[in-house]
Amino acid sequence: MVLYEIQAEIEAIEKNAALYEETNFDSRVDALDTIEFNIIDRIEGLLPTTTQPEEWARLKQYAESIKRQLEDIDEKLFQRLRADIRDGLCPAPALKSLIGKYVGCHSSRDRVHDEIGYDSLDEFINGLLLLEAIPTETKVREREMVAYQQTPARIILELIEKAQLTEKDVFYDLGSGLGQVSILVHLLSGALAKGIEFEPAYCAYARMCAAGLNLSGVEFINEDARQADYADGTVFFLYTPFEGRLLQEVLEKLRRVSEQSMMRLFTYGPCTPQVSRQSWLECIDQNEAHIYKLGVFRGL
Ligand SMILES: C[S@@+](CC[C@H](N)C(=O)[O-])C[C@H]1O[C@@H](n2cnc3c(N)ncnc32)[C@H](O)[C@@H]1O
Repeated sequence: MVLYEIQAEIEAIEKNAALYEETNFDSRVDALDTIEFNIIDRIEGLLPTTTQPEEWARLKQYAESIKRQLEDIDEKLFQRLRADIRDGLCPAPALKSLIGKYVGCHSSRDRVHDEIGYDSLDEFINGLLLLEAIPTETKVREREMVAYQQTPARIILELIEKAQLTEKDVFYDLGSGLGQVSILVHLLSGALAKGIEFEPAYCAYARMCAAGLNLSGVEFINEDARQADYADGTVFFLYTPFEGRLLQEVLEKLRRVSEQSMMRLFTYGPCTPQVSRQSWLECIDQNEAHIYKLGVFRGL
């Protein structure tokens, strides 16, 4: 009985013509999740106890073949898009409208997020930018240094929308991890975007991503944010890369930058309350107290 139910579920996915249209990225994300978690995982759970192992193994192969067909569509899409970016054929407005077209109404971008949460927009950005597996850390982090976690893509797009960067701006992601924030900021605004990252393996990964897209307006610097030089920065982003005294030390450096020229600071995550207590910063958005909303500040 269960076998027929699962078979019908796979057939329904196979026969859904909309899933094979390249622009229906969102629906493919849902279908791939269903295959992975509701079908393949379930079959694997049942396999050790079943009296029909061949039937179940055949069903699993069937599910895997549909999964591969759907993944191939995304793979070809990202290969083409990456080639266009490399060849300079995907200017910021074109990329923005393409993202809107492929990750449209099903994304949770427009819903209220009171926690971190990722959605199909993240799947799209990861498919475009993160080709290799995440490298393992090679250096021991100090207690106040926060481990790598990526900023939800909807927050990066909100940052780009609110920052309205021009070619005169220099953007910095302090604690840039695998580099998506700086790469997306550059791709969608054209501004020079840099990342400062403590972990050499992450920094190498980010450089490889930028080089793979032939981007000259993105730079990754492997340094501790306490020592790095970012005096040329006009717009900064912190997705809680550090906490406590270490964060305060970096905020002092940013205060000195703001004394020299106008600067804005965007934050996300638990660092936001500490940032909002700095007397030299003014919050220019109502989200200052909410750790999972974008904080927007300006140097006074
Ligand atoms: C929460 S992750 C944010 C990653 C990235 N901004 C993103 O959103 O994809 C924090 C990052 O800060 C880095 N980090 C921690 N302490 C640092 C320091 N003192 N200087 C530079 N980077 C640091 C970590 O290695 C990690 O990659």
